Amino acid sequence: MSQPQLGPPPTCQSPEHTCGVSVVHEIIERYGGNPEMLIPMMQDIQAAEGYLPREHLRTLGRELGVPLSRIYGVATFYAAFRLQPKGKHTITLCMGTVCYLKGADQISAVIQDEFQVKPGGTSPDRKFTFAPVNCLGACALAPVMVVDGEYFGGLSASSAVDILQKIASSKKPSEAVAKADAKQKTAAQKNGRGSQNP
Ligand code: FES
Repeated sequence: MSQPQLGPPPTCQSPEHTCGVSVVHEIIERYGGNPEMLIPMMQDIQAAEGYLPREHLRTLGRELGVPLSRIYGVATFYAAFRLQPKGKHTITLCMGTVCYLKGADQISAVIQDEFQVKPGGTSPDRKFTFAPVNCLGACALAPVMVVDGEYFGGLSASSAVDILQKIASSKKPSEAVAKADAKQKTAAQKNGRGSQNP
């Protein structure tokens, strides 16, 4: 397979280089402009940016002579690739049957509304990535969400938002999680639920 000739980087019209020309061109040069190294190049772009920005992929395709459809095919085939930026915190909300029957849909709605984030997406301020799932295996604590690995059970829409707001505003997220977790544990004990950690 012939390799494209690498000239000087194309001129970027964006003052913030949102086109990714400089980043992408540097990565292409690292691999000698070899289109067969497409996946490692995409991995490097994700390592540099935290995800695969659309304009970066356009630039990559243009420079390598690879159709954008093929690049998106690769990006969507491998679960490790992200086409959206990841938030500082990840909310995993259970939407399984037990949690759903106990109000998970209302919790989901209020999270989407409060933080302007859609399922599978990231909030505009990049604080939260919202990832609903089918079952977290902690049905006895329904409704349940996990934030950065910490379990919160027996939630209501308002308590979920309260926990997330504390996490969002905390300068030390781990402390906020601990405080929120302690508060939630107290509520759970009052309800006779015991610890939320599985
Ligand atoms: S249904 Fe929610 S944890 Fe199982």
